[in-house]
Amino acid sequence: MNQVRTFRLAIAVVVGVVSATSTAGAQSATKKPAAAAADGQKVFTTTCVVCHQLDGAGKEGLYPPLAGSEWVQGDENKLIRIIVGGLSGPVEVAGETFNSAMPGWGPVLEDKDIAAVATYIRSSWGNKAGPITESKVKSIRAAMSSRKTPWTITELSAVKDT
Ligand code: HEC
Repeated sequence: MNQVRTFRLAIAVVVGVVSATSTAGAQSATKKPAAAAADGQKVFTTTCVVCHQLDGAGKEGLYPPLAGSEWVQGDENKLIRIIVGGLSGPVEVAGETFNSAMPGWGPVLEDKDIAAVATYIRSSWGNKAGPITESKVKSIRAAMSSRKTPWTITELSAVKDT
């Protein structure tokens, strides 16, 4: 009787382990698309978070918010230019005016990192704008290759491309 019980227990344990393993396998297979989004989050938490904050709200009077920002969710060409080349001077974000400077991240981030972080900030904290591709970043970077100083909003508005 005891032997039978032990045997049943052993079977139950084996079945448990096997089903746990196969569930884990299935989960990691379905997690693939999320891994791409995680890269953008990683770039954000290593490069942007110190100023724009984990919740994307920025800091009153110092660092503008990315959450709810029209620059983040608007024209992707301008957003890429801001991230690659930086921004200085007055900028209105979500109804508040900031007048500071951000260096360009072009020299420290690769095209794929800029695409990933731009995609991340466009789809986080309630922001709802489409993804940005690596090839788009590549072409904007090439178009602004002679630029050495951060953009101003006036200059950005004058750039005509689609
Ligand atoms: C050292 C602080 C700092 C860091 C780090 C930083 N920024 Fe900024 N960012 C600023 C400031 C300051 C401005 C506003 C510049 C101005 O007043 O002209 C700004 C403006 C912006 C804007 C346009 C305005 C808005 O809020 O939508 C975007 C987009 C942006 N940053 C994205 C990023 C991204 C993406 C990263 C990381 C790759 C990053 N920033 C890292 C300080 C920073």
